[in-house]
Formats: sequence, C-alpha cells, structure tokens
Amino acid sequence: MACCHHYATAEGGDAVFSVDVSAISFGPGALAEVGASARELGMRRAAVFTDPQIAELPFLQTVLASCRAAGVEVALFSESRVEPTDASFQAAAAFAQEAFSASGGVDGFISVGGGSVIDTAKAANLYATYPAEFLDYVNAPLGAGRPVPGALKPHIACPTTAGTGSECTGIAIFDLKAQGVKTGIAHRALRPARAVIDPTVMASLPQSVVAAAGFDVLSHALESFTAIPHSRRAAAASPGARPMSQGANPWSDVGCREALRLTGRYLQRAVADAGDIEARENMMFAATLAGIAFGNAGVHIPHGMSYSVAGLVRDFYPPGYPDDHPMCPHGMSVIVNAPAAFRFTASACPQRHIEGAELLGAEVRGATAEDAGEVIAARLTELMRATAMPNGVGGVGYGEADIDALAAGASAQQRLLGNAPCDVGEAELRDLYRAAMRYW
Ligand SMILES: [Fe+2]
Repeated sequence: MACCHHYATAEGGDAVFSVDVSAISFGPGALAEVGASARELGMRRAAVFTDPQIAELPFLQTVLASCRAAGVEVALFSESRVEPTDASFQAAAAFAQEAFSASGGVDGFISVGGGSVIDTAKAANLYATYPAEFLDYVNAPLGAGRPVPGALKPHIACPTTAGTGSECTGIAIFDLKAQGVKTGIAHRALRPARAVIDPTVMASLPQSVVAAAGFDVLSHALESFTAIPHSRRAAAASPGARPMSQGANPWSDVGCREALRLTGRYLQRAVADAGDIEARENMMFAATLAGIAFGNAGVHIPHGMSYSVAGLVRDFYPPGYPDDHPMCPHGMSVIVNAPAAFRFTASACPQRHIEGAELLGAEVRGATAEDAGEVIAARLTELMRATAMPNGVGGVGYGEADIDALAAGASAQQRLLGNAPCDVGEAELRDLYRAAMRYW
C-alpha cells in the first residue's frame, strides 16, 4: 500500500501486516448451532462458562440443549465474575482442571456472556492447559509477559452484549487486585476458535448496558482507525513475532469505517428502544467488525486510561449492573476519556479524526486540520449526553486528588500507549485526566 501516504513504510518499518481472525457464525438463531460446532471442533467434554445473571436467561438453555443434542457433555461454571479479577480467573482455571478429571478431562471451552465471561474462559483454557504462576503470562511490566507455549483447546465464544469484541480477540482483561489496576493477557493463541454471534440476545439488555457496550464498540473502531500506522512500527523478525496490536492497517480500516458508520446511525436508537431490533442487530454487527479490527490493529489512549478509571472506582454503582460491588463498566470507563484523548491525538492524523467524526454522523463540511480535535470531541460528547453517560471522569466520582493515581495506573499500560499515533508519558496522562474530568 505504498501508494497510500498514510501507510508509506518508514525507515526500518514493517511493510507487512498480518490478519488473524476467529471463524464466525452470525445471525438470529446461531446459538442453536453451538453444540454441532463444538462437535465439529472435536469436543466431547466441554467446560461451559457463564455468569449468574445469564445463567437465568434462556440463551444458556439453548446452548446447553444444542450440546446435549450433539452428544457433547458439559460441566457448567456459572460463577464468572462481571469485571473479573486475578482470583476469579484462577477459580475458573481450577474448575476447568478438575472437570471431567475421572474421564479424561475437558477437551474444549464454550463461553456464553459478555467480555468478562469470554475472557474468563480464555484464562481458564490457558492456565488449565499450560499451568504456570499466575503472573507469568500477564502483560509486562506488571507480569512476565511470557508467550503462550502452544495451541490451546478449542473455545467457542458466544457474546451476549454488543461491545467487547472479545469473541474475536486474543486478549483477556482482568483487575489485578493487589495493584488496583486492570491489565491483561494478550496472545494470539487465546483467540477463540469460533465466535457464535446471535443478535437476538440484544432484545433483553437494559439501556445502560447497551449504551456502555456501544461506546466500547465506538472506541475500538476509532482507536484502531487512529492508531500508529503498522508501517511505522519496527519490522517484525518473523510473522509470529509481529504483535497483535500492530497498528492501523488497510484491513482493519475496512472494519473500523463500517463499525463507525453503523454506530453513528444506530447507537442512540439501540439504547432508546429495546424493541428496535434493526438498531440492536446492527450494533451487534458493528461490535463484530470493530472486534476483528482492533484484534489486528490495537487500541490506544482511551483504553489505556480506562483501566485505572475502572480499577480505582470507589462508590459508583451504574444502573442495570450487579450492585454487589462498586464498578465502572468497561465501555463507560473508556468513553469518559475519549473526547480528551482524541483532542490530544488529532494533530497526529487530523484527517482520520475528521473522517471518524463524519462517519459517526457529525457535520464536518469546512473543517480544517486545526479543527479536527474539536470536531471529534464535540460529536463524542453529543453522543454521550444523548445516552446518559457520566460527564467525564468526574462523573464516575474522581477529582483532582485522584489524578496522580489515575495517571500512574495508565502509564503501566505500555502495550496500549505504544500504539498511540503520538508519544504520551505520565505528565501528558495527568493533563489528559484533568481535561477528561468534565465535558459539559
Ligand atoms: Fe474495549
């Protein structure tokens, strides 16, 4: 793509990009195919992961019935924690290690839930297959960043919210409790073998869940679209050494553009009306496209800042979520940073910020490169206000006194910050949190 200025290969840069994706089944009724797909992947004894809320919903029964019909035995773990922790990952791994131990052990994984559940199944698969000290596989510098030693058991991921895109990525995110930060495990071997995406699951979701998940989709697409171009990263020594977060590339751009267009068109409708099937199905498709894109490009500053916003939360209980512990849902913890972060990155690639705003439905006629930051920040703020998001980081309960701790947590997210189109250090992060405190 040397003809495209954005992807002109820098001195020592990587002229090649790699695309890895899960196999995908998408459409109403897809959950009824899970058992047959499991069998095709060679599963006979599957560990099925869900959470206590989803365990009460009919989707899980559909999946379990399809497994029974296909002759796949299941061991059900319904205690996956919403916003998982190192302890909850380890509990899930212990379950997977013990299930079917008298008859040869688990030979595959099925997850039915949001990103928390899917990530829990990824971690259980990893630690049950290749046992290790917990921090061994965790991203450096918090963990040792050890690569996954080989292939994992097949995992079928069935998302029940339209957001995380976790069904298409090799990333598992959790709270490292001792340090009060979110971090993750990232390796292409964690990517599920198949994603089964059934948009009918969207009909029962509360408004606040659709809104938070929708902003996660939006930010995956916009961050991947504005990430450092892959051709400015150092060339990889081998295909396997090329990072999953390889930066923006022409392939991820395709998914980002369509995900942004669909989000601009359908997010507000999907939040406002649970009966608007067209809007909710299109948000599910946008989530899939954005998930595939960010799984091969990588996100940057808004996600990097989100982990301490979620990890240090004190007394925030959003409507529509479990109220047994304070929490800031992932998409919410991302979007409260986004207007400030994109105002900051706009000068690195102004045209992409303007195009992103236009795809999201903003009027951009006459906008110049100098306007790019304001144009995108204004459209994001407009969408946040229309869908009852918190008014910035302050709306989640933080103040000036928290800025040092927030910035210290974010600066540990080097994998993400290195994917930004411009340099960002701890001093810039403090300024960004200050700018993100309040938008209206
Ligand atoms: Fe996300």
